[in-house]
Amino acid sequence: MKKKVLVTGGCGYIGSHTVVALIQNNFEVIIIDDLSNSNAQTLNNIKKITGVKPTFCECDLKDIHHVKNVLKYNKDIEATIHFAAYKAVGESVAQPLLYYQNNLVSLINILISQLELGNINFIFSSSATVYGNPKKLPITEENQTERPFSPYGNTKKIAEEILEDLSKVNAESNMISLRYFNPIGAHESGLIGELPTGIPNNLMPYITQTAIGLREKLSVYGNDYPTPDGTPIRDYIHVVDLAKAHVKALKRQLQQKQEKNFETFNLGTGNGYSVLEIIKTFEKVSNKKLNYEIVGRRNGDVPSLYANAKLAEQKLLWKANKSLEEMITSSWLWEQKARHQTL
Ligand code: WQD
Repeated sequence: MKKKVLVTGGCGYIGSHTVVALIQNNFEVIIIDDLSNSNAQTLNNIKKITGVKPTFCECDLKDIHHVKNVLKYNKDIEATIHFAAYKAVGESVAQPLLYYQNNLVSLINILISQLELGNINFIFSSSATVYGNPKKLPITEENQTERPFSPYGNTKKIAEEILEDLSKVNAESNMISLRYFNPIGAHESGLIGELPTGIPNNLMPYITQTAIGLREKLSVYGNDYPTPDGTPIRDYIHVVDLAKAHVKALKRQLQQKQEKNFETFNLGTGNGYSVLEIIKTFEKVSNKKLNYEIVGRRNGDVPSLYANAKLAEQKLLWKANKSLEEMITSSWLWEQKARHQTL
């Protein structure tokens, strides 16, 4: 009998890749998604990859009556992986209440609804942004978390605090927070990937959209940071490696292997690359010259962020293994297929 897993935001970028990994690991998946930043076509593409079209409920998690209704007909859910959230850093600065309401009310509603039915197994999509500007590198889970610069990042930090408080009064419930560094790349099929609505905030989609002609040029936000080439360093991780980590965390939970009922893990590669290194690698794998210009710093950026991912390696028996070239090649393939172009 397949174990049933609820994936909120399962039509999204990281969510859809995790759904593919779950199905390939013999889990039955139910997706709840409001399609505010994703597309139902993703369900067909998940089917093309896995042969299975996951059950899908279009539902805004801010509507607690709808959430309870969905759960009423799915009492046999063994665990939840919660991706559903808004994630544009800049937008969150401009519209903080939109982010606090959506990201926190959605989380609280799914938790209330599930805890009413009994103890829960819950995996939360968090972010390295909870570390703020780290005092020590590489970053371990022991690093002090700081008040993140953006309301988006703060919703992730507050959400972790909610889960930690809940874990203290729900001893039989298990919660794991996964702190992503910089997810990039796409499934090798080119059928699922990151499709940001509007102007991309993140580096990789902006690079591929510039290369394919959707954007005139990439602005590199500052080359006066205290790094070897002056541009900020980040720990880029292939989204497929990230998806596999969720399956490992789920198995840890279902096999009752958690040592505390609230655990956090860094999901990174442990390697840091600068913006200029990413650009150079893109030019190498795509054989295309990228049009970019060095401009002023972006508010809120920190010089360097990369993980010590040893804890995930030891406890989740997981290690990212895809190279930077594989990550960037798969991003470029996705961009071309998503735009139905092969250059
Ligand atoms: C990476 C580097 C920019 C765009 C954010 C969130 C994090 C997670 C990932 C959601 C930085 C530079 C970028 C551009 C540039 N989000 N850059 N020109 O800021 O590390 O992390 O996205 O889960 O929580 O905080 O990622 O891709 O935006 O930027 O020069 O057009 O690329 O300055 O140094 P970031 P990013």
